[in-house]
Amino acid sequence: MRFRTTSADGTRAVAAALAPLLRPGDVLLLSGDLGAGKTVFTQGLAAALGVVEPVTSPTFTLAQSYQGRMRLHHLDVYRLDNLGEVLDLDLPELLDDDAVVCVEWGEVVIGELPRDFLRVRIRLADPGESPDIRIFEADLIGPSWHDRADSLAAAWHFADSFPVPPC
Ligand SMILES: Nc1ncnc2c1ncn2[C@@H]1O[C@H](COP(=O)(O)OP(=O)(O)O)[C@@H](O)[C@H]1O
Ligand SMILES: [Mg+2]
Repeated sequence: MRFRTTSADGTRAVAAALAPLLRPGDVLLLSGDLGAGKTVFTQGLAAALGVVEPVTSPTFTLAQSYQGRMRLHHLDVYRLDNLGEVLDLDLPELLDDDAVVCVEWGEVVIGELPRDFLRVRIRLADPGESPDIRIFEADLIGPSWHDRADSLAAAWHFADSFPVPPC
């Protein structure tokens, strides 16, 4: 699945449109360079899950948990040097918590995931295009995500008109 947004709010709307499809235990891996919009995406998701606290980059805390309609664990593993440190984050416990787990720079943990996951890759548009364009490519890994492919495509098709609470 591939689509684009043209503003940070557009990215929040796309993430918010995903929220109704999420189930406890779901894992989202966000990848893309610094400034791609991984944290912005997580903000939209958190707001749509009913999180009222502001969501900021957890770069210095590595993991931050929020309570909304479901619990949301937000990890940013950018600074981690090796997989051992990721495991020190108690990743297995976070995955077992019936929460949604959203990991920035998520490719680091792919090998540690015991289950299906949704991978969202975010990149900037080509030079010459608007600097606010972001291109999204989503990979649905495993049966639980394949089952939701049609719903997700529909949700993202209408994402532009999806109401997003202010962040
Ligand atoms: N279409 C867009 N989607 C997401 N962010 C955008 C977009 N256009 C501009 N931006 C800006 O890009 C930056 C993305 O930052 P952030 O989400 O912290 O990146 P990351 O977490 O991937 O390092 C923000 O300053 C945001 O306002
Ligand atoms: Mg970030």
